[in-house]
Amino acid sequence: MIYPSSVSPLTSLRVIVAADPAAAAELATTRILTLLHSKPTAALGVATGSTPSPVYRALSRAQLAESLDLSRARAFALDEYVGIDARLPQSYRSVIDAEVTEQLGFQRSHVSVPDGSAADLAAAARDYEAAIDAIGGVDLQILGIGHNGHIGFNEPGSAHDSVTRVVTLTQETREANARFFDDNVELVPQQAMTQGIGTILKARSIVLLAFGAGKAGAVARALEGPIEEASPASALRKHSDVTILLDEAAASMLS
Ligand code: F6R
Repeated sequence: MIYPSSVSPLTSLRVIVAADPAAAAELATTRILTLLHSKPTAALGVATGSTPSPVYRALSRAQLAESLDLSRARAFALDEYVGIDARLPQSYRSVIDAEVTEQLGFQRSHVSVPDGSAADLAAAARDYEAAIDAIGGVDLQILGIGHNGHIGFNEPGSAHDSVTRVVTLTQETREANARFFDDNVELVPQQAMTQGIGTILKARSIVLLAFGAGKAGAVARALEGPIEEASPASALRKHSDVTILLDEAAASMLS
């Protein structure tokens, strides 16, 4: 069951509380399909992690049912670990290859992931930002949110106008992601290359998904707390087209 959407009193954010992650994923998928039907060359901003996986699966099913051709669409990943072998399953390159490029049928050359193995990381970050600008920007950015409110790997304290760069991951984030590294936090890289908050805010539309009680605090702070650098996702309230898709648990701390 999907509850009626409500408009946050503070901002133009649309906050939709769906009955479960599958229902939220269907709503996100509908947004993506509408975009791709009207603009087959659209650029999607794609997140990794657990949250967007049901969206990519729903999109794959819808795409098969509708014979949607994604060969002209583009995708830009949010982030990548620094120093990780891109062939390892934990690299975001591997995750995006499997969940986006192969599952959805994007052309490989149309899918970009920050190069966390570049010899010159600063240059690679500048090139990534420039590549997004060169294709005219991201049309629809899919986001998850960290327990500490991060978007991309923009940890608390990130400037709201930050661009693609190398960042140091917090211990909290490394612990949260240890589940992808044999539950060994020591194996989680210390740094990542991430689109900045300013990069994310350049997308024409943004859809953030959050599921589970563990995200409830981060969601409440992002939507109802102060807009401040200590709260990266609060920056989304500066954007004019953001949809927040939650399950009931993730919405449970909203007033
Ligand atoms: C992933 C990313 C992160 C995740 C966030 C939530 O590309 O940029 O911001 O969206 O850490 O991760 P999950 O969905 O695994 O809880």
